[in-house]
Amino acid sequence: MSKHCIRLTVSAILSALISACATSPEQSLYDEIGGHKTLNTIYGVAITRIYTDPVIGHYFKGVPKKHLRDQLVLQTCELIGGPCEYDGKSMEESHKDLNIKEREFYILVEYVQGAMRDVGLTYQQENRILKKLAPIKYETVYL
Ligand code: HEM
Repeated sequence: MSKHCIRLTVSAILSALISACATSPEQSLYDEIGGHKTLNTIYGVAITRIYTDPVIGHYFKGVPKKHLRDQLVLQTCELIGGPCEYDGKSMEESHKDLNIKEREFYILVEYVQGAMRDVGLTYQQENRILKKLAPIKYETVYL
């Protein structure tokens, strides 16, 4: 092999190695949507609408907005691969005796979905988050 060829081979190997190292590990959905800032905006927008909704607003009388917003952000952060650990009450504990109906659950979820759209998440990102929230239905309704 000529010197020129060896130099080319070495530089090809080096550049392959460099690009392999530069490839970051798979990004979490949390990072992809913009992390805490985006979730905090989503729940800020959703909560304003939820608290004034004629059907479900009454459930939230006396529930401090900031507390609920912070807990929702933390919980969703954990669900979508962020660096958080939800430390609030269990879903069963915080929703028991409220007797939330299934249709009321969907009203709330639609506000979250609408807020996600308003802050510019893609349809696919929206659905990936909703998929994580969906099973929570069984820990919140008819308790
Ligand atoms: C995907 C659906 C839902 C999620 C992820 C969710 C999540 C949460 C979280 C994280 C808390 C805070 C718990 C704590 O204080 O530590 C909470 C509290 C609460 N949620 Fe939900 N929730 C959902 C559905 C609903 C629905 C459908 C309603 C009513 C229509 C509702 C009404 C409430 C109320 C009233 C509280 C405050 C309870 C209290 O502090 O006494 N939630 N929820």
